[in-house]
Amino acid sequence: MDNPDNTVKPEHQEKDQSLRENVPHNAAQTATKKRPRSENDCPTEGAAKPRKIFKYGNYDRYYGYRNINETPKEDVRLQAFIAQKEMITGKQLLDIGCNNGSLTLLIAKHCHPARAVGIDIDGDLIGSARRHQTNMLKLCTENPDTFKALKHVEFRTVNYVYQDESLLASEKAQFDVILCLSVTKWIHLNFGDSAVKLTFKRVYRQLNEGGVFILEAQPWSSYKKKKKLTTAIFEQFKRITFRPDEFNRYLLGDEIGFREMFELKVADHTMKGFRRPIYAFRK
Ligand SMILES: C[S@@+](CC[C@H](N)C(=O)[O-])C[C@H]1O[C@@H](n2cnc3c(N)ncnc32)[C@H](O)[C@@H]1O
Repeated sequence: MDNPDNTVKPEHQEKDQSLRENVPHNAAQTATKKRPRSENDCPTEGAAKPRKIFKYGNYDRYYGYRNINETPKEDVRLQAFIAQKEMITGKQLLDIGCNNGSLTLLIAKHCHPARAVGIDIDGDLIGSARRHQTNMLKLCTENPDTFKALKHVEFRTVNYVYQDESLLASEKAQFDVILCLSVTKWIHLNFGDSAVKLTFKRVYRQLNEGGVFILEAQPWSSYKKKKKLTTAIFEQFKRITFRPDEFNRYLLGDEIGFREMFELKVADHTMKGFRRPIYAFRK
């Protein structure tokens, strides 16, 4: 057995300077701190409890909601990754916007990457991800391969969007697979068109030759539903000109340069809003 003393400390404590943190001041609090809808407004006395605003899509019950009616009761996207297992097994994987790590850990459990790094802008979610990993490790001590795969998952609080575009020049290729699932809308609404383009450029640079970028982008129609989440988001929304239906062409075009694109087969989600195509782009 790989783990005779039942030591379940994951390896997330290591610091890798190549993933710069750049986390906005309030990011980690957004999931827990109650705040009024507009960040400039104060709730009136005696008013109903202010609703939590998850301005980065940093929902603290995301998977409970997303997977509530699915059978089996795990993420419908997992099967699509299992079908592409050879793309992941023994490889270096990055999951941008991993939320509480549920899907990252499921992929690690079933597809055994050599190393997986889950990053999220929300430190509270990263805390949950680490606890989740510790619990999963406790449950799989009998299976050394799965134990090893789960132990080689690291979670870090990182804003993937650089504050300074010049940092791109020093970015090094280090991953074989990069996931960006249901995250682009939040990068877009908070940081704008240039941030989405910068994200794609960073992804390309971080991928090894032959590596794959897996993108599940939210459609424009879903942006409209969130445009009034905060006043800042509304201002950002009005400035957007680079729409999600242009992403694929952009990724394959001269500015980025992926060589090919293919679609991953995903079973239909029971909720229409979560039926989003997933595309893979090969460097
Ligand atoms: C809707 S959730 C999707 C979670 C997961 N990727 C999935 O599809 O199951 C979006 C996640 O992206 C994170 N996020 C948003 N903007 C981010 C950024 N700039 N850098 C890192 N994570 C970000 C949010 O905190 C949230 O957990």
